[in-house]
Amino acid sequence: MKKVLFVCLGNICRSPAAEGIFKNLIKSRNVADLFIVDSCGTSGYHEGQKADKRMRAAAVKRGIELTSFSRALRSSDFEKFDYILAMDNLNYRKLLSRALTKSQSDRIYKMCDYVYDLSFDEVPDPFYGGENGFETVLDILEEGTENLLREILN
Ligand code: 4NP
Repeated sequence: MKKVLFVCLGNICRSPAAEGIFKNLIKSRNVADLFIVDSCGTSGYHEGQKADKRMRAAAVKRGIELTSFSRALRSSDFEKFDYILAMDNLNYRKLLSRALTKSQSDRIYKMCDYVYDLSFDEVPDPFYGGENGFETVLDILEEGTENLLREILN
């Protein structure tokens, strides 16, 4: 069993989208039973909320339903999950600062380390931007999660 956690700031835009896309992908490849997949935020600002309406609408257009509710990162996540994927550099640093041991920090990766074709360094925060930002996030995540899955299964 592989355990994958996607992390952004609010857990209402980028990481719920990553969770939904990855779950969809592993289902379509018939490997869903090999995985536990979740997402969270380094902040608890939006605790208990569904994903942002704009993010959900953009995802639905690609056949992906986002059903998660926002939660904050917990200390126990560093023991539970094998792959902890930060959506941007700020949240990557926040994750590293919360890890207590090398074995915990070794589980932390940047989502964009798996994004080759689009060559983004971060998944840009779409919260205060326009409609376009949500499509860009989904494009980046579709490519990144595909490469991530290939690496995990190798
Ligand atoms: P996320 O986007 O980190 O991708 O969920 C954001 C959501 C909310 C805020 C910032 C980013 N906020 O400032 O409330």
